[in-house]
Amino acid sequence: MSLHVLNHPVAGHILSLLRDENTGSAQFRNLSRQVTSLLVMEATRDLPTEPVEIKTPLETTQCRKLAVTVVVVAIVRAGMSMVDTIVDLLPSVAVGFIGMERDEETAEAHSYYCKLPPLKNRRVLVVDPMLATGGSAEQVIRMVYDQGATDVYFLNIVAAPEGVKVLRDKFPNLIIYTASLDRELNDKKYILPGLGDFGDRLYGT
Ligand code: PRP
Ligand code: URA
Repeated sequence: MSLHVLNHPVAGHILSLLRDENTGSAQFRNLSRQVTSLLVMEATRDLPTEPVEIKTPLETTQCRKLAVTVVVVAIVRAGMSMVDTIVDLLPSVAVGFIGMERDEETAEAHSYYCKLPPLKNRRVLVVDPMLATGGSAEQVIRMVYDQGATDVYFLNIVAAPEGVKVLRDKFPNLIIYTASLDRELNDKKYILPGLGDFGDRLYGT
């Protein structure tokens, strides 16, 4: 498994606002989209391309277009915040959804919904802004590999070392892009310093 942490002043600035408890839902949604666009540009840097001839208003020129279908798999609910940005950026993209919810007492995640497009021979971007114990991401990434995916990336905004360790131990070929590797989990399995409950802040619940 390889872990890439965005080390970018703009990402740091966006994170400072996402973490701020005074940031309301509308701004929080905007900031989530902004940091997602930074993550997706990094995680697609090595996508295969093929030549294409384009006629500009002045002459014909050789350009390159993407030569692979990308699939986004959103871990619902909070992962929904990252989908639209990726769909806007990538022309041929398929989208899957897996609903996961952590038990409020035990923090154990269970799946309540799953709808996936074909995953074989495609770049699969699993998206969830929060990686805490790793329980939700582990189950989803397992399902994705079980469906035949081999080229799997996990895009995340805030990660805890505990969750990273779980994914590292289970998935040797997984590639993670995150905007921040935070310090630790608290006794309720929330990330510190973190930003609180992402889904609640996103949807004002
Ligand atoms: C949050 C978050 C992740 C999960 C991370 O979801 O969006 O999916 O917790 O925690 P873990 O690494 O310990 O599994 P939550 O269960 O709160 O559901 P929500 O997205 O509907 O708010
Ligand atoms: N899920 C969140 O939304 N926040 C955390 O800190 C941990 C899990």
